[in-house]
Amino acid sequence: MGENRYLTFALAKGRLADKTLELFEKANISCGEMRDKKSRKLIFVNEDWKLKFFLAKGPDVPTYVEYGAADIGVAGRDIILEENRNVYEVLDLGFGKCRMCVCGPERTADMLLHHERIRVASKYPNIAKDFFYNKKHQTVDIIKLNGSVELGPLVGLSEVIVDIVETGSTLHENGLRVLEEICPLSARMIINPVSMQMEKGRIQELVRLIRGAQAGK
Ligand code: PRP
Repeated sequence: MGENRYLTFALAKGRLADKTLELFEKANISCGEMRDKKSRKLIFVNEDWKLKFFLAKGPDVPTYVEYGAADIGVAGRDIILEENRNVYEVLDLGFGKCRMCVCGPERTADMLLHHERIRVASKYPNIAKDFFYNKKHQTVDIIKLNGSVELGPLVGLSEVIVDIVETGSTLHENGLRVLEEICPLSARMIINPVSMQMEKGRIQELVRLIRGAQAGK
């Protein structure tokens, strides 16, 4: 591949994309066009750097990167683990920090401890399955939800949930607590394996610039 090929970024829409663009701007590799919130355009181009950017639904970012429709992606580690796509994770962007946890009302702590067959509601069924089956060797029933997962134990759908905890206020306000931490989360940069080989130099240079911006240089 020559110097003229565009490198394409898929960014997870929302707060993460805003933070990503802020960081990229510090690294001088961003694209002014993208800051125009009113624009309905889907793809933005930085001609100087031969970069293209597009915004996608978070869970679709690893899909675009695995298939090579994007060379580079930025998404939360929660999504990257859940989707389990064939991509390289190369950089922790350091924002969007939170934790994946098993949570529930106080009375479920013992159920968890005694390996009871409990129901687990989650937006992240693969992460939940991996944690309970492969790490804890505990048989559970996993129920997939699409949001407001804290409702699960409140309305009797499940005993516990596997979900993201950031400040902990959603749990607190609903009488739930963290029972066990699964892993820390933050925004990560992922790369298509073929792009990694073919565009190694340019990707390394971008990573170097972003690291510099992170360090405040
Ligand atoms: C996320 C997560 C928790 C909440 C955690 O939900 O699922 O509900 O944020 O944040 P906190 O610890 O700071 O309270 P989100 O707002 O993304 O919406 P969702 O429930 O539709 O997934």
